[in-house]
Amino acid sequence: MQDRNLALEVVRVTEAAALASARLMGRGDRKQADHVAVEAMRLAFDHVDIRGTVVIGEGERDEAPMLFIGERVGSGWVDNDAGAPKVDIAVDPLEGTNLCATGAPDAISVIAIADDGQFLNAPDTYMEKIAVGPAARGQIDLRESPTWNLERIAKALGKQVNEVTAVILDRDRHTALINEVRQAGARIRLIGDGDVSGAVMTCKPDSGIDVLFGIGGAPEGVIAAAAMRCVGGELQGRLRFRSDEERARAKKMGVKEEGHIYQTEELAQGNVMFAATGVTQGYLLDGVRFIGGGATTESIVMRSKSGTTRVIKATHRFDTKPRHTWSTGLDA
Ligand code: FBP
Repeated sequence: MQDRNLALEVVRVTEAAALASARLMGRGDRKQADHVAVEAMRLAFDHVDIRGTVVIGEGERDEAPMLFIGERVGSGWVDNDAGAPKVDIAVDPLEGTNLCATGAPDAISVIAIADDGQFLNAPDTYMEKIAVGPAARGQIDLRESPTWNLERIAKALGKQVNEVTAVILDRDRHTALINEVRQAGARIRLIGDGDVSGAVMTCKPDSGIDVLFGIGGAPEGVIAAAAMRCVGGELQGRLRFRSDEERARAKKMGVKEEGHIYQTEELAQGNVMFAATGVTQGYLLDGVRFIGGGATTESIVMRSKSGTTRVIKATHRFDTKPRHTWSTGLDA
């Protein structure tokens, strides 16, 4: 990858997806909210001078019309520009479709970028995860119990366990986990969706979140790992298959032996960049606010090479912007 901070450019792409899907906040239609985010993101990529290949996206080519795995994005391909950086792209145009559909906190639009072959080609299965910010890096171990991890995290942060806050997806499969974390005395923030935001929050000191525990999507684990790489946090993950079919598919994709614990660097290697824009108001980012003739957005942009994190607040005017960067297409 060249020295260009591509995340500063692709943030326009996450902004476009956020602006489009935010119009459908609370409308109860998660599919439509996702659809407009995908469409806006795909169109916005045409204006970024890269030769990108989607490695984590909306699914296989036969099941997703846009941003499917293997799709080429960026104007570099169209213009045949050999100088445009060749990169792998991991996208989640709307992370937390239900959060957007119900107006709940922390729906985001997100993109991670790495050099060719540096992301784990994550199968569409589950991943058991634990993630912490830089202060507790090196102190966690997914093989150990939540209680063991909480004690180590508390010590690293100079806190009592009952001052540590864990974020956990509110799912039946987490009943035992939640009980154990409660038993250990830690505080919990249960979230309906969005464990990418949950993981990244552990790296944002004023989020009040210290650790993410639990099982969520494997592709989301790779995207979150890219963010952790940029800020010196840590995410460990273990694939959790829901069926033999998933197991067989993952094997074909070349994943390690079952039970392997992926370290942050195995999920996202080399120079990585990360950009996310808030869709709904959240603990991680402000959501889109419509201000009459325009809107404001808040995004976070980071890259591993420099370790710099930028928060970008933007005011968008709809009269001067190409329609695809802010419209749902429904109001055309
Ligand atoms: P969507 O954006 O596709 O709605 O997924 C949100 C999410 O909550 C992820 O953040 C998480 O990794 C995954 O879904 C959990 O999956 P499940 O809903 O099956 O528990």
